[in-house]
Amino acid sequence: MRIILLGPPGAGKGTQAQSISNKYNIPQISTGDIFRKNIAGGTELGILAKSYMDKGLLVPDNVTIDLVKNRLKEDDTHNGFLLDGFPRTIHQAEVLEALLKEQSVAIDVALQIEVPREFIIQRMTGRRVCPNCGASYHLEFNPPMLRGICDDCGSHLIQREDDKRETVVERLEIYDFQTAPLIAYYTEKGKLKTVDGTKAINEVFEDIIRILGEANDHH
Ligand code: AP5
Ligand code: MG
Ligand code: ZN
Repeated sequence: MRIILLGPPGAGKGTQAQSISNKYNIPQISTGDIFRKNIAGGTELGILAKSYMDKGLLVPDNVTIDLVKNRLKEDDTHNGFLLDGFPRTIHQAEVLEALLKEQSVAIDVALQIEVPREFIIQRMTGRRVCPNCGASYHLEFNPPMLRGICDDCGSHLIQREDDKRETVVERLEIYDFQTAPLIAYYTEKGKLKTVDGTKAINEVFEDIIRILGEANDHH
């Protein structure tokens, strides 16, 4: 299956992406995680991305699109993939569509995780992430088994640079202007599915599995 996850910052895309990717055995491609890996590694791409991310702005389309194009050339994407955090602009969506068309494939589902604004700030300020494997935790809603340690790989958890309140507000605004139009875009293509992201993490996952199962039956 070829899946896109949509939703505002803090909606739970990364959290659900890991479970979906395990269940369907498809790679999770998170542009945010790839940028953060590059920042940690001090690469040229990382330095460039950081200058935008720290302000809550989008990394320029040409940079992000090249990155995803290259990632989608890797062999593990043949049976499908899960895009987490891409596309984030109409232009990115159009380029993705053209790229897949060249390979005679298409996105199966654009899954929107819907979460009202009042939940978001709390989720993002309590978030802790694994700098090594990208896993997301929450101090209150999804704590790791050992405080400050990643369940999956044992690395020390950190707080994301862009999870400060001011940056969160900026990111939400950017989402409204640049990314939210994708909801209409995928609705028009008949690809949009929506899941209620305010439920508990495992309940959201169950709903997602059901929705993806139904979408898959239509093929
Ligand atoms: P990115 O890393 O993609 O960040 P984002 O979209 O802002 O989304 P988040 O990762 O903040 O939230 P999430 O939905 O993954 O939520 P999570 O599962 O962690 O992008 C970062 C930056 O990179 C961008 O600002 C931009 O600069 C750049 N970038 C990335 N992609 C780009 C692109 N395509 N084009 C241009 N620039 C790009 O959950 C949040 C918290 O809530 C966690 O603590 C979690 O434990 C908790 N939680 C999750 N689900 C629940 C639940 N159901 N109940 C209670 N708590 C929950
Ligand atoms: Mg994320
Ligand atoms: Zn980890």
